[in-house]
Amino acid sequence: MQIYSDDSESLTNSNAISIKGNFSWGLVKDQKDKKDSKDEEEKEKEEKEKLKDSIQEPISNFVTLKDIDLQIKKGEFVAVVGDIGSGKSSLFKAMIGDMLNLQKNALTKVTGSDSLDTKCDEATRALITNELLGNSYDLNRPVTTITDKSVQINGPICYIEQEPWIQSKCVRDNITFKICDDTIDNENYVNTIKACQLERDLQNFEFGDMTLVGDKGIMLSGGQKARVSLARAVYRAMQLGDQESIVLMDDPVSALDTHVRQMVFEQVIQGLLKDKTRVLATHAVEFMQLADRVVVMEKGKILDVGSYSELEKRCDYIQRIS
Ligand SMILES: Nc1ncnc2c1ncn2[C@@H]1O[C@H](COP(=O)(O)OP(=O)(O)OP(=O)(O)O)[C@@H](O)[C@H]1O
Ligand SMILES: [Mg+2]
Repeated sequence: MQIYSDDSESLTNSNAISIKGNFSWGLVKDQKDKKDSKDEEEKEKEEKEKLKDSIQEPISNFVTLKDIDLQIKKGEFVAVVGDIGSGKSSLFKAMIGDMLNLQKNALTKVTGSDSLDTKCDEATRALITNELLGNSYDLNRPVTTITDKSVQINGPICYIEQEPWIQSKCVRDNITFKICDDTIDNENYVNTIKACQLERDLQNFEFGDMTLVGDKGIMLSGGQKARVSLARAVYRAMQLGDQESIVLMDDPVSALDTHVRQMVFEQVIQGLLKDKTRVLATHAVEFMQLADRVVVMEKGKILDVGSYSELEKRCDYIQRIS
């Protein structure tokens, strides 16, 4: 995937990722949290309260990632760490373009200011959202072109979501995404199975890697699901060969026991993927210690960046978990 391919200051040739700015999951409140059990009068009161609130809410209330400025070099291994809810997964989602990037020009265009402290009602936030999406909210307004380029990715991305997912297919198809057996890259496939510690699991399944899993097949354990999801991204990254692919791994090893986790780390992250750009969200200290750089997140901000040994001396979070 190539997002914004033009040259710019921040994305030099040696960088794989450059991400800057503020990112939101959405500026308009989710109305789904209304409780059906409440009587009408209470509902009405709540609605009025909401309306009052919405008139006065600063944009910053809707911003999850604030003042992000991070460049990751090609081939670098970066660990993204931080407490639960600190914004690690959101940072990955922002990198793949799944969050709204609050570009200053769009904010200024709608509100007259680029400050996140600007208070807006819901309709104005909807206007900003549409401006950010490059659409016109009001059909009479001209469609705007967004010129800010806050997320730049130099190479194809392989992304492992925090929540592993499985399709109702055989294990092999889940990993390779291929329907016809003879089209798979057998060497890469076997290496991937071994490195992701799936060999023994497959030997125990009645039909090996042709065993149907998911809704219509056998249930996989949390650890097996995690390793199949990991294998899917590893196989894809290996298929891309010498291309400078970027592997984003959102805590893929948390469901694994210590021994398997160590094997996966050695054979996948520092093994098959060793020449790729690797970004790993993790709570595991032993992985942070081996990363080239550690990015510490706190309340949606990047609190500090450095090697583990540097951060051990100056960063409260690292000192707390060491
Ligand atoms: N898909 C989503 N839609 C809306 N809000 C989200 C979504 N994912 C995360 N958030 C919100 O973003 C904030 C940061 O959460 P995030 O999942 O990025 O933290 P995290 O550091 O990955 O936590 P964890 O250690 O539990 O994985 C939280 O307030 C969370 O509710
Ligand atoms: Mg997360």
